[in-house]
Amino acid sequence: MTKLATSVVFKLNNGKTIPALGLGTVPSGDPKHVKDQVITAVKAGYRHIDTAWYYGTEEYIGEALKELFDEGVVKREDIFVTTKVWPSFWHNPAKSVDISLERLGLDYVDLVLQHWPIALHGDENGEPPAPKDKDGNLIYEDDPITGEKYIQSYNKLEDLVETSKTKSIGISNYSIPKYKRLLPHIKKHKPVLNQIEYHPHLPQRELVEYFQHQGILISAYSPVGSNGAPVIKIPLVQELAKKYDVTPNEILSAYHILEGRIVLPRSSNLERIKTIVRLPELSKTELEELYQIGVKDPQRYINDPWGYGLGFRWWKGDTLTKVFD
Ligand SMILES: NC(=O)c1ccc[n+]([C@@H]2O[C@H](COP(=O)([O-])OP(=O)(O)OC[C@H]3O[C@@H](n4cnc5c(N)ncnc54)[C@H](OP(=O)(O)O)[C@@H]3O)[C@@H](O)[C@H]2O)c1
Repeated sequence: MTKLATSVVFKLNNGKTIPALGLGTVPSGDPKHVKDQVITAVKAGYRHIDTAWYYGTEEYIGEALKELFDEGVVKREDIFVTTKVWPSFWHNPAKSVDISLERLGLDYVDLVLQHWPIALHGDENGEPPAPKDKDGNLIYEDDPITGEKYIQSYNKLEDLVETSKTKSIGISNYSIPKYKRLLPHIKKHKPVLNQIEYHPHLPQRELVEYFQHQGILISAYSPVGSNGAPVIKIPLVQELAKKYDVTPNEILSAYHILEGRIVLPRSSNLERIKTIVRLPELSKTELEELYQIGVKDPQRYINDPWGYGLGFRWWKGDTLTKVFD
């Protein structure tokens, strides 16, 4: 019988555990629909929900969790909830987390991530999330390459671990150079994971090996390449789905889970959510063949302008990152 992805948990560097399969909650259209997505996922066995202040879905996740708790489907301690602090809230992550907790209707989250290692110019409520000048350029609080406010922001997140509001903290969209600059300034709490775009079209072994060496897990976002699911179309993914009699989505989740990475699929299709739970046991050779697809033909699908200058490879439109070997 095929194993279940929903039963795999990984150990974090602070001794806590995290379910390997997490539900992504960026809304497709009306964020209210996320409530049913969460209920469906939890009933299908997911125990990990990935959200963010920025997504505007926390309120509906809160409604879903309340219903699931009230009906006795799960208890609070059975579910791992991640939220994130957006760079326009860099100056007051504690306030951002308070807002998230209120929207989620929870006393604590399991994990708070620094969403991006930059500081954007936001007011006391983090608004606007993407401030622009009259020419349409992002307004940063300091230089996105040399600035250090993102480090101060991480240090403030560390203070949060000392409260009861989060069990762990982590990072997202950190390249190796950005993390190397943070590292000497970490006071006490290392990030438990780094959440980045990752799928067979975006091979990042160097990044993964670096973070593994630091004891930091990788959490893979956009596992099918986001809207339109371009990664699903890779012939090898289709072939493996047939061979193992699972969905292509399950092949793409297994690609991460079997190599120790967390994976965060998202879907507005409730049937699809229910059928991303099996864990086909791909061989080492098949995992390597999937990896080689991106070595030959690298594609990044999330190319947000706030990613410019962070030092990632293949970031379309990035005029700030200067060189790669
Ligand atoms: N930290 C960050 O900066 C960051 C950035 C991006 C994402 N994330 C997290 O990662 C999660 C997942 O990433 P993502 O939202 O970019 O997406 P994803 O899971 O790679 O892609 C989801 C999209 O693919 C479609 N899809 C999935 N399977 C399909 C199939 N078999 N056939 C056709 N279409 C299919 C879905 O459509 P349907 O709705 O029709 O299924 C949806 O539009 C997010 O929700 C979020 O929680 C984090």
